[in-house]
Amino acid sequence: MIVCHCMHITDHDIHSAIEWMRAADPMTIITPRKVYRALNKEADCGGCMSLFLDTMRQNDKLQVPMLRKPAVSGQPAALIEESGTCKATQRSSNI
Ligand code: FES
Repeated sequence: MIVCHCMHITDHDIHSAIEWMRAADPMTIITPRKVYRALNKEADCGGCMSLFLDTMRQNDKLQVPMLRKPAVSGQPAALIEESGTCKATQRSSNI
């Protein structure tokens, strides 16, 4: 399916670019501009941007994988959710 008519970019092109960028750098933040640059193209009218973003969001490799928090002495490393939401419960905050 054509997503960007100005530059003839398909949904397959977008997914391929995202997967390539994620494989090249697991921690990179992938933006529409980076996708355009990976495809050696540049946005023109911008009319496709909402569909472009929707297509990007469909790719499960768009998000940066979970970050690993350094281990504190004697304790295993902990995972930090990308959302940054606190996992503490009311009970744990009273300790
Ligand atoms: S339709 Fe994508 S830049 Fe115009």
